[in-house]
Amino acid sequence: MSKEMKTIGVLTSGGDAPGMNAAIRAVVREALGKGVKVKGIKRGYAGLLQEEIIDMEARDVSDTIQRGGTILQTARCKEFTTYEGQQLGAEVCRKHGIDGVIVVGGDGSFRGAQKLAALGINTVALPGTIDLDIACTEYTIGFDTAVNTAMEAIDKVRDTSTSHERCSIIEVMGRGAGFIALWTGIANGAEDILLPERYDYDEQKLVNHIIENRKRGKQHHIIINAEGIGYSQSMAKRIEAATGIETRATILGHMQRGGSPTCKDRVYASIMGAYAVDLLCEGKTNRVVAYRHGDFVDFDIDEALSMEKSIPEYQFEVCRNLSI
Ligand code: ADP
Ligand code: F6P
Repeated sequence: MSKEMKTIGVLTSGGDAPGMNAAIRAVVREALGKGVKVKGIKRGYAGLLQEEIIDMEARDVSDTIQRGGTILQTARCKEFTTYEGQQLGAEVCRKHGIDGVIVVGGDGSFRGAQKLAALGINTVALPGTIDLDIACTEYTIGFDTAVNTAMEAIDKVRDTSTSHERCSIIEVMGRGAGFIALWTGIANGAEDILLPERYDYDEQKLVNHIIENRKRGKQHHIIINAEGIGYSQSMAKRIEAATGIETRATILGHMQRGGSPTCKDRVYASIMGAYAVDLLCEGKTNRVVAYRHGDFVDFDIDEALSMEKSIPEYQFEVCRNLSI
């Protein structure tokens, strides 16, 4: 039997991502518009267990759509991965009259939402991560801003790399996934991209490529290295020694997670936030909102977590073919 939604809780969990505030704002205002109360749960599942819960009104999300980060803060919470932690989380929801929870985060956070759903708290998850590593969706909140931020930074490194006729290794985030590296590889016209899903660790091949490109008249050589491969500094030292070409490594790091969200992240996050409220109000639970084939859709979290995602072969080929 579907549960009447009187109060919805919203939390952000795992790594923050630009656009999370747009999602929170949409949740708050869509819910209030339907006569449903909203409670903000601070610091992800950690805040839920600590009962860091605040009432949220329409004005509490004013002036937030353009802000990076998350106004609710975020955290990683080990205790919530235990059954006892999850039971406590469900109890806290009941104590505060929270009938349904919207969780914005990556697939780790989805697992938390799945556990809460199993304990009788209706849940809907939104894909919030700069990594784009969630299989059921072609879009994740924050990816667009992150790749634009990284792209602009890489353009700047490229200027100095050209002036000094250097090789530059630029490390981008993505945890175990190479989507940020792939997109910036295409957008920045990188000579090489190293993706965890594809890299064969044959450094001699890289060295040969750098030397060939120099002979062809290329004034710089940009290598985008994904965080999942890492070791950019030591790689730079080895490449400089093997090629005789000055090589520098730049690790872009957390700058990729910050900044004002792009139009796409604001719009998609807003739609997903509203969609999540609608699902809860229809009595749905254990769902994840996704973007597929040009539309916003939803999946059962169990099904979503069983899906797999790989680097699109054609996009990888294009990136390599255009770097001649
Ligand atoms: P992300 O959501 O970005 O993938 P994490 O994997 O760090 O980030 O997960 C965020 C949080 O979600 C964790 O700190 C934990 O509180 C919760 N979580 C992760 N995995 C589980 C799990 N298997 N069961 C319950 N909660 C989990
Ligand atoms: O999941 C987002 C992300 O930024 C990954 O790209 C990266 O591996 C990780 O989070 C970094 O986490 P932390 O902020 O804990 O250093």
